[in-house]
Amino acid sequence: MKKAVVFGASGFVGSHLLDQLLNSAEYERVTAIVRSNLPIRHPKLNMLIGDLDTLPELKDQIEADEVFITLGGKTPKIHYDYPLLAAQIAKEKGAKAVFIVTAVGASSQSRMSYLRTKGEIERDLIALDFDHTHLFRPSMIMGNRGEFHLVERVVLAIWSVLNPFFIGGIRRYKGMKASNIARAMLRAAQNPSGKVKVYHWKDMKDLL
Ligand SMILES: NC(=O)c1ccc[n+]([C@@H]2O[C@H](COP(=O)([O-])OP(=O)(O)OC[C@H]3O[C@@H](n4cnc5c(N)ncnc54)[C@H](OP(=O)(O)O)[C@@H]3O)[C@@H](O)[C@H]2O)c1
Repeated sequence: MKKAVVFGASGFVGSHLLDQLLNSAEYERVTAIVRSNLPIRHPKLNMLIGDLDTLPELKDQIEADEVFITLGGKTPKIHYDYPLLAAQIAKEKGAKAVFIVTAVGASSQSRMSYLRTKGEIERDLIALDFDHTHLFRPSMIMGNRGEFHLVERVVLAIWSVLNPFFIGGIRRYKGMKASNIARAMLRAAQNPSGKVKVYHWKDMKDLL
């Protein structure tokens, strides 16, 4: 049985992922590094309170075969610095594979700063030389976040209408439910082939 560490477990994709990892017979221990306590109790769950600044202090409590990163936010620190440190520490503590959610269009050459940062973290995670580096690049993350944000609801509604029209070369822009992105990550971890693998919509769908 495996041990996993998850960064971003309180988020939309991360909360589905945590639930799925805890309910998978393949994992004996799931460590979630969160900023505040999650309302979850589970015999396999090792919940640690921390963030980018305090992560080094938690090192001794982290033990992992795999590291999953679903962190998201508004600053480059959360898209780059934190995931990089998380992966470095997990590797130091035994992780052989890293699974991260970035975004469709991620490229270190992008002119858009969000996509450039996503590309830079992909590039620098690959450079850490895990046995397996799996990069998940969703377009719109669909589903109910359980919070009401008007703009987000409108964007999601528009995306739901557009979704069937993303075909051929642009099908990678199809939206995918957070729960399915999480499931694709878990399935990829069941059989991690290849040193570096990039997943767009179709690649994730094929894993479901
Ligand atoms: N939304 C989309 O449609 C979309 C599309 C493509 C790609 N993506 C990418 O997909 C990934 C997952 O997205 P999501 O919607 O699941 O993210 P989310 O719901 O916003 O979750 C973000 C996670 O990061 C944590 N976090 C945020 N700021 C932090 C900080 N300063 N220190 C420590 N932890 C922090 C949050 O913890 P707290 O609960 O403590 O805040 C939460 O666990 C992100 O990288 C995002 O850029 C999103």
